[in-house]
Amino acid sequence: MRVLGIESSCDESAVAVLDDREGLLAHRLFSQTELHATYGGVVPELASRDHVRKLLPLLKETLQEAASAAADIGGIAYTAGPGLAGALLTGAALGRSLAYAWGVPAVAVHHLEGHLFAPFLERPAPRLPFLALLVSGGHTMLIEVAALGEYRLLGESLDDAAGEAFDKTAKLLGLSYPGGAPLSQLAERGRTGVIRLPRPMLDRADLDFSFSGLKTAAMLAIRDRALDEQARADLALAFETAIVDTLVVKTERALEATGLRTLVIAGGVGANRSLRERLRLLADTRGVALYFPRVEFCTDNAAMIAAAGLWRLKAGQRDPLPIEIHARWPLGELLAPDGARSGQAH
Ligand code: KG4
Ligand code: ZN
Repeated sequence: MRVLGIESSCDESAVAVLDDREGLLAHRLFSQTELHATYGGVVPELASRDHVRKLLPLLKETLQEAASAAADIGGIAYTAGPGLAGALLTGAALGRSLAYAWGVPAVAVHHLEGHLFAPFLERPAPRLPFLALLVSGGHTMLIEVAALGEYRLLGESLDDAAGEAFDKTAKLLGLSYPGGAPLSQLAERGRTGVIRLPRPMLDRADLDFSFSGLKTAAMLAIRDRALDEQARADLALAFETAIVDTLVVKTERALEATGLRTLVIAGGVGANRSLRERLRLLADTRGVALYFPRVEFCTDNAAMIAAAGLWRLKAGQRDPLPIEIHARWPLGELLAPDGARSGQAH
C-alpha cells in the first residue's frame, strides 16, 4: 500500500508518500518560521492562509519525486488534531477531497501518534511495546505504547512543555523563534557549572514534569547579570542541562516502573543533541534498545503522519466522509482500530 501523508497542524506545511514495501518515496516540507518570526509565535490566521498557498504545490512536487500518480495512492492520512483549527482544516479538506476524487480511503491521524510512529520510518524500526518520551513544543509526556492506539500516559508536564520552555528562555536570550535549536547551539560555548538552575520535580516520586519554575529561574538569572556573550552561553548551557537532567531522570524512573526494554524519543525536542547523548548513555547502561527518528522527522513533518496512517489503514480503519478536525484531542481518546494488533504495517 502507498499512502499520501499531509501535515498542517501548526506552522509547517508538509506532504509525503510512504510505501509499505519500498519505504519513504518522497517528502516535502515548507516551514512558515520566517512568516511568524516578527511576532515571536505562530499567528493562526497567517498560518492557515499560508497552508492554502503551499499545500498544492508541495503535493505536486512530492508526487513527482515519488514518481507516483493518483492511481498509485491507496490511501490518504492527514493530521486531524490537535492543533490550530484553521490550519488543520486546510490539510483535512485537501486530504478528504483527494480521497473522494481518487476513490481511496482516508484516515484522520492524531498528530502525537504521528510523532510516536516516526521511528518506524527508520531501519531498524523499534518493536512494540515501548516507552516513549514525547517532547515537543506543546507536549512533554512519558507514554507506554502497547500497540497502535493503546497508550498509557505515565507522566506529563503540569505547565509548560519542554519545547515551550526552550522557546521562552531563548527569547529572553534574544534568540530567534523557535528557540530550541539556537539555544542548544549557544550552549555549546557555555562553561559547565558557572550557573546552576533547579531541576524541577525530581524530589517527587511521580513521572510528571514542570518547567515553568525553571523558566522563571532562568529569567531571574538573566535579569541579575550583565549578559555578555559568555554569560549568555553559560546560561543557555545551565538551562539545557537542567531540562535534559530532568527528562533523563524521569525517563529512567519510567523504565524502572514499567520494566520496558525499548525506549523511543519523539517530538521536536528529541532533536536536541545533549538529550540524545544522555539517553543513549542511559539506554546503554540499562541494556535498553533506543530508537529515535532522524532530526528532520523529530520536528513536524508529513512522513510521520503517513507512517501512523499506514498502520491505521492496514488495520482496516476507514473514516466517514465529513471533514472532522479536533483542535483539542487528548491522546487517551484515541482508539485502536479493529485488528491493530494483527501485525506490523511495514
Ligand atoms: O514537534 P515539534 O516540531 O512541534 C510541535 O508539535 O510542538 O516541536 C517543536 C519544538 C520547539 O519548541 C523547538 O524549539 C523544539 O521543538 N526544538 C528543540 C530543538 N529542535 C527543535 N529543542 C531543543 N533542542 C533542539 N535541537
Ligand atoms: Zn509536533
